[in-house]
Amino acid sequence: MCAHCFSLPIEYMVKRADLEHDRFYTAAKAEGYRSRSAFKLLQLSRKFRLIKNGDAVIDLGAAPGGWSQVARALVGENGVVISVDLQSVASLEGVIVLRGDITRDETVTAIKATLLELGRKAADVVISDAAPQLTGNKDLDQYRSFELSAAALTVAAELVKQGGHFVTKIFQSEYYPQFYASVKDRFKQTRAYAPEASRKRSAEVYVVGKGYLGK
Ligand SMILES: C[S@@+](CC[C@H](N)C(=O)[O-])C[C@H]1O[C@@H](n2cnc3c(N)ncnc32)[C@H](O)[C@@H]1O
Repeated sequence: MCAHCFSLPIEYMVKRADLEHDRFYTAAKAEGYRSRSAFKLLQLSRKFRLIKNGDAVIDLGAAPGGWSQVARALVGENGVVISVDLQSVASLEGVIVLRGDITRDETVTAIKATLLELGRKAADVVISDAAPQLTGNKDLDQYRSFELSAAALTVAAELVKQGGHFVTKIFQSEYYPQFYASVKDRFKQTRAYAPEASRKRSAEVYVVGKGYLGK
């Protein structure tokens, strides 16, 4: 369970008392979102015009499902959302849930097969909020975040259509410039952005790639 979701184990750094004074946490509960992170995707998609009606969206690191709820609402009845996580995601109307590790080839194969079953040759947008279980070892946590972001970029490079979009979370670290450059190589426009809903003391940033240049 991530630090931004609602049932927090004691070892996580964000204390429940902090959360209860957090306006995004309160708003997420009031609006029926499964995580406060839902507001990050709303802000990212609005600012960068990422997800539109009818799109096929792949949501990586999706549990408990806040981003998938937002993506589902944005794509509407004619769109599709495929959500992937190591953990189970409780079912969501209109969302296909796959359990798997996004760093593994077989997961990419399974997502591709699901897209085809849904009558889509490629995704319009790949979104990733995947984050490692924090160990408290900053270097290790930063490296694992980089690995997950790189895996998300691999999924996007394989499954997003030419002209499609990508957004992923990454912890700022020594690996960040290398990652940003690899997104820049593959997309027409690249930006880094910290949504308002990201905590002020958080090292996370979202890298957005718009207009996939193709394989
Ligand atoms: C911050 S949470 C995602 C919150 C989600 N966007 C939401 O709004 O509900 C990060 C998620 O990344 C997942 N994750 C971490 N490593 C992963 C991996 N290798 N493959 C798939 N999911 C992974 C975790 O299980 C966790 O559920």
